[in-house]
Amino acid sequence: MSADKPNIVVLISGSGTNLQAIIDYVANGAIPANIAAVISNIPNVKGLERAQKAGITTSVISHKEFASRDQFDAELTLKIDSFNPDLVILAGFMRILGDDFVNHYQGKMLNIHPSLLPKFTGLHTHKRALEAGETNHGTSVHFVTSELDGGPVIIQATVTVLPDDSEESLAQRVLVQEHRIYPLVTKWFIEGRLKFDIAGNQITYDGSKLESIIKIDADTPVGKMLDWLPKLKT
Ligand code: GAR
Repeated sequence: MSADKPNIVVLISGSGTNLQAIIDYVANGAIPANIAAVISNIPNVKGLERAQKAGITTSVISHKEFASRDQFDAELTLKIDSFNPDLVILAGFMRILGDDFVNHYQGKMLNIHPSLLPKFTGLHTHKRALEAGETNHGTSVHFVTSELDGGPVIIQATVTVLPDDSEESLAQRVLVQEHRIYPLVTKWFIEGRLKFDIAGNQITYDGSKLESIIKIDADTPVGKMLDWLPKLKT
């Protein structure tokens, strides 16, 4: 990690409610880090406003201005690296990233995806979960690898699908869970406890292999989890 507090760079494409949750945890001291920059590939999104309000440097790199994915990725890499990041967080960043980009940040890039992976990779996850008649749905936080939504999952939060759920109502309940688990994983990473051992293709916590995905539901108190995770080692 860098001198002083470790640097986080957050990539967004939209409303930035996950970004907000992380901003709030950093502001109250629970995540001992500095959000060095928020970068969006779409101009004028609400997430940029949230960052500016929190006094965070923002930048827009519009993918539309580049002839190829590789050129966009290269420009994005230059921008991110100018902030000397210890952690890159994808928070509703809706671009597929090329292998070179992903490999460059392997082990220090996290994503949140609105489904219980490996179910429903890609887009429209809530709609697809409803159409499939799922009784449970949720969200996953994972390290990013070159497989789309396929990197090793750290934690999943499950929500029960209700009989009268719409895509919107389900998405809303999933978001509530996202705002609980993403800051938590960010904290574990920033504290140096959570690592992706790339060679061994495994996640470690305090040096021990995380044997299975951490699973919580809407009733699990996040405060309890802070005590609970270290006990998984035994
Ligand atoms: C979140 O639900 C996140 O899981 C999803 O976009 C939403 C962003 O919301 N990400 C993906 O679908 C990535 N494949 P937010 O901008 O309010 O944080």
